[in-house]
Amino acid sequence: MKEFLKRVYRRTPLFTWRSMRRGVSQFAELANADMPPFVNDPILRDVVDHVLDAGATQVIETGTHLGFTIRYLAARHADLPMTTIEARPDFFAAARTALKKYRNIEQVLGDSSKVLVKRAARFFNGVPFLFLDAHWEKLPLLDEIRCVARNASDAVILIHDFEVPGRPEFEFDVYGDQIVGLRILCEGLAEAKPYAIYLPNSEYIAEYQRLRGAPDRRRMRGTALVFIGADAVHAKFREFGGAHFYTRWAA
Ligand SMILES: C[S@@+](CC[C@H](N)C(=O)[O-])C[C@H]1O[C@@H](n2cnc3c(N)ncnc32)[C@H](O)[C@@H]1O
Repeated sequence: MKEFLKRVYRRTPLFTWRSMRRGVSQFAELANADMPPFVNDPILRDVVDHVLDAGATQVIETGTHLGFTIRYLAARHADLPMTTIEARPDFFAAARTALKKYRNIEQVLGDSSKVLVKRAARFFNGVPFLFLDAHWEKLPLLDEIRCVARNASDAVILIHDFEVPGRPEFEFDVYGDQIVGLRILCEGLAEAKPYAIYLPNSEYIAEYQRLRGAPDRRRMRGTALVFIGADAVHAKFREFGGAHFYTRWAA
């Protein structure tokens, strides 16, 4: 473990060895705790499981944090290759202590938008499922979406912490003057093949309330689901009732 952390540290001059070690041990315990995926949103978890079962060929997550979501997905979809990208070396190393046992997860340390570009040939074939969740202090989201739009013939994108217009029950992220929402998404998709955007609807809110209690007292986060091409997966999403909880957005 020490050798591994040293290798990580050598690649990350911003962190001292001592602060790195302190951060990792602090976070490693949490990374190994029993934590649910998708900030404990059972509807989102089920919708993603269905989409992956419907024919996704790999999973790419930007923003590993401590690996709570990717480890759930790796266990539930053991045949799907998964890549998770994290910029912070302390989170990367702490997550590693919990993720190393999953043979289908590759962890990458780096800036998500750069890693997506660098590995485009590997990532953008088949029907990749991209969970774009690397928001924290800065927002690589526009570059991430642009990269998918330019390179993917078929893909499914999930964005967390997304502003859902007209539905204040859903929390979303704001970084300075940038809102995680439709403006960034549509700008990023400008060069994409034909696509469909889905946003959670009132059925989602009612079901969340039934399962977890009143959304105004719980952290119910907004999401956007985007199908670029991916016609077969998109059709199955509609068939299995994903579209019951999500409504297609039209400009
Ligand atoms: C909301 S957390 C991710 C939670 C995780 N996806 C889950 O479901 O458990 C956001 C993570 O993105 C990371 N992050 C922020 N900017 C990034 C970037 N440009 N590239 C890679 N990771 C980044 C942060 O360090 C943080 O760990």
